[in-house]
Amino acid sequence: MRRDESQIFDMILDGHPSRFVLGPLACLDLGRFVPHPPPVYIMDEAVAELHPRWVEQIQEGCDSYRHDTLAVRGGEKAKTLARLAEVYDWLGARKVSRDGTIVAVGGGTVLDLAGMAAATWRRGVNFVAIPTTLLAMVDSAIGGKTALNAAGLKNPVGVFHPAAGILADCGFLATLTRSAWRDGLAEMIKTAAIGDPRLFASLHHWRARLAESIGSGSPDEPIPGILGAFPWQQMIGQTAAVKAHIVNRDFRENGLRRTLNLGHTLGHALEAWSMETDRPLSHGQAVSVGMAVVFRIAAERGTCPVATAVQVIEILEACGLPVTHSSPGADSLERLLAGDKKQSARGDLRWVLPERIGKMDINGRVAIAEITKWLD
Ligand SMILES: NC(=O)c1ccc[n+]([C@@H]2O[C@H](COP(=O)([O-])OP(=O)(O)OC[C@H]3O[C@@H](n4cnc5c(N)ncnc54)[C@H](O)[C@@H]3O)[C@@H](O)[C@H]2O)c1
Repeated sequence: MRRDESQIFDMILDGHPSRFVLGPLACLDLGRFVPHPPPVYIMDEAVAELHPRWVEQIQEGCDSYRHDTLAVRGGEKAKTLARLAEVYDWLGARKVSRDGTIVAVGGGTVLDLAGMAAATWRRGVNFVAIPTTLLAMVDSAIGGKTALNAAGLKNPVGVFHPAAGILADCGFLATLTRSAWRDGLAEMIKTAAIGDPRLFASLHHWRARLAESIGSGSPDEPIPGILGAFPWQQMIGQTAAVKAHIVNRDFRENGLRRTLNLGHTLGHALEAWSMETDRPLSHGQAVSVGMAVVFRIAAERGTCPVATAVQVIEILEACGLPVTHSSPGADSLERLLAGDKKQSARGDLRWVLPERIGKMDINGRVAIAEITKWLD
């Protein structure tokens, strides 16, 4: 695919322009988003190891004489206040000033950590995101949310700080493990269910092929030939377009943006709970269980077609994603849900409940018994 086949989505988030560029060599546009070079880089160490030449080219394209790079191990442990304090020390030692730029290169966890640092260092410096996982390309890099884990909860600490540029190149995905593909697909399926019936139909149509290449096999291995197996650039573009449209219309999550929490209310509770166990759920796995449960609840109530819930579960399972999980028990679940950062001021939790593909109710109420019924 040629560079001129790149897709661009322009957003205005809180009055600030935020541009998503998707395509081969998109990252070479980095210089356009760095008004006062050189930037500093906060980079997933796995990406630095797996793609050294590419990373070097990106850096040289932006600025040829100084590449200050902080390598961070990706994963949920990157999203802690202790890690953030280390980043501040590092930025301080490099004397990053108010007109500096932080460029984040990595998956959703490194982008969240670097985004938090960019949002708060000297009360906010310019931020550019180079997402390197499917999940980060279709979801976490877009929309200006940053978040850290704290107090045993998932993502309770965060600020809004949109990236000036989000530069996505599918080439990075060649080295992703199967489990990272699955996690990204969970958010892709969610976004398709919210806002792109055509993409949803394609995913359902491809479920046997998805099961063969992504759903089965070792979760810790990359998948040979995966980049040629599906039209990823098109699928990522379709998913990113839905998210960009939503956040552009409702940046502060007063209404429409809440649809993106489909599967996340229960997902975050299970993810936080499982972080304390020896088998933690990844973000994508937790969202998958959360989505499967709300589709089942809606289908049982008769507010969403049963056939739609069945299709959602078929796609999730084809991608090797879990559709149920052991239950923390009704009391713990209630406590975990009460800690959900999206709880309204009245303490009155509102759920995203599907009505059909492309239509969500953002003011749903769900009883604990309705949830535990669908957990093991
Ligand atoms: N801020 C938001 O709006 C938002 C939205 C959705 C999710 N999130 C957050 O995103 C996080 C999940 O992101 P994720 O799934 O990208 O996880 P991740 O950042 O942990 O990346 C998954 C794994 O892939 C590795 N990796 C990254 N790029 C790679 C590459 N190109 N090749 C090989 N390995 C690579 C990482 O080192 C890590 O081990 C969660 O913490 C979630 O809360 C944030």
